[in-house]
Amino acid sequence: MREKKIITGYSKLSKLKKIKEVAQYFENPEKITQFLSSFWLPIEKEQDLFDEFSENTISNFHFPFGIAPNVMINGKNYLIPMVIEESSVVAAASNSAKFWSTRGGFNTRIVSTTKVGQVHFLWKGDKEELLAHFPELKQALKVGTNDITRNMQERGGGILDIELVDMRKEIPDYYQLKASFNTLDAMGANFINSCLEEFSDILQAFILEKKQIKEKEVKVIMSILSNYTPECLVEAWVECPIEEFAAMDTDLTAEEFVWKFEKAVQIATVDPYRATTHNKGIFNGVDAVVLATGNDFRAVEACGHAFASRDGQYRSLTKLSLENGIFKYSLLLPISLGTVGGLTSLHPLAKFTLELLGDPSAEDLMQIAAVAGLANNFGALRSLTTKGIQKGHMKMHLLNILNTFAASEAEKEAAIEYFKTHKVSYNAVEEFLKLERK
Ligand code: MEV
Repeated sequence: MREKKIITGYSKLSKLKKIKEVAQYFENPEKITQFLSSFWLPIEKEQDLFDEFSENTISNFHFPFGIAPNVMINGKNYLIPMVIEESSVVAAASNSAKFWSTRGGFNTRIVSTTKVGQVHFLWKGDKEELLAHFPELKQALKVGTNDITRNMQERGGGILDIELVDMRKEIPDYYQLKASFNTLDAMGANFINSCLEEFSDILQAFILEKKQIKEKEVKVIMSILSNYTPECLVEAWVECPIEEFAAMDTDLTAEEFVWKFEKAVQIATVDPYRATTHNKGIFNGVDAVVLATGNDFRAVEACGHAFASRDGQYRSLTKLSLENGIFKYSLLLPISLGTVGGLTSLHPLAKFTLELLGDPSAEDLMQIAAVAGLANNFGALRSLTTKGIQKGHMKMHLLNILNTFAASEAEKEAAIEYFKTHKVSYNAVEEFLKLERK
């Protein structure tokens, strides 16, 4: 392919011209244009909506939208929509959900729902002078953001507190205004950031006006929410008597299985290499729900991984307790989600997801996402400590491999039958198709 030339004003081009710029690098630009437009939605107005979600859009990138059924949460049965490209994730969540549906289901509780934002600034003045006026400043910050917070306050949310944090041990002259918020059913990023930018102006004006504060120069570095929300926390857990594991599809006794499972969790607690994969399995489920509801999975991941390192070492987000013959497996997850505003109410499939979930509040959705994470992780550990994951994983992957060889429907059917009793691998599928095609 030819080297790409520098383009100016790409964002100002029409969509067709944007595509043309891209298509010119292919042998058959006309075909590329048709290919990209074949993924557009048939109704122009609906496609326009998608185009406006982002910048420089030329097509849509489809991900599978699947359902994990039988997910019992606090006694209520859910069909959980999951958006994920990895073939075995929905299957793992569904198997886990089915297993736990006859053992009390999943339990959840909201620990807290506080979100955080910071104004980072440098100031060389006398801290005592600022501290002496801090209650007054705090009041000014609250009153000065009334226009932004009024609606949220009327519904019971808004600014919870504002602290002055002295960070001078880390960086000379560095302070923060650290504010905590309750954003109710909104993820709240825009709300928090708007408050913070206003705080920044109010802080500078306040210091300028106060005669008793001598140093007038405040250098605001930035005002931004924190995606680390250790106090926006949900717990999900499953529990049952240890002997319940006797009925599983494995040659291990219940005690042997639980012993192995416990070791697997201990390993993920002490070894960051394993903890990363263990937690990745949790986020297989969490992210799939987060995506299906139009929420920000990057924020959720970043927060979860920071929380997993909160004592200085990256560890498992799940814990196992085995007391009085009861297996209790729990996930403690910080997760900030919204069920109103943003993409949640614009993306037609996100809207559908929320409807199918019974129009959950943000707190409900935190619990559902955490359950999806725990279900996937339990499924992964159950497979890993018994038959291994490859057999199931490759079975799920079989259709992908068949598709890379452009297998016909008849070939797919034959392959699915054949690989019920044979080990799936890329080479084995290739060989199988060669024989079929002879
Ligand atoms: C694969 O996407 C996820 C697993 O690797 C998770 C785990 O190892 O716990 C199966």
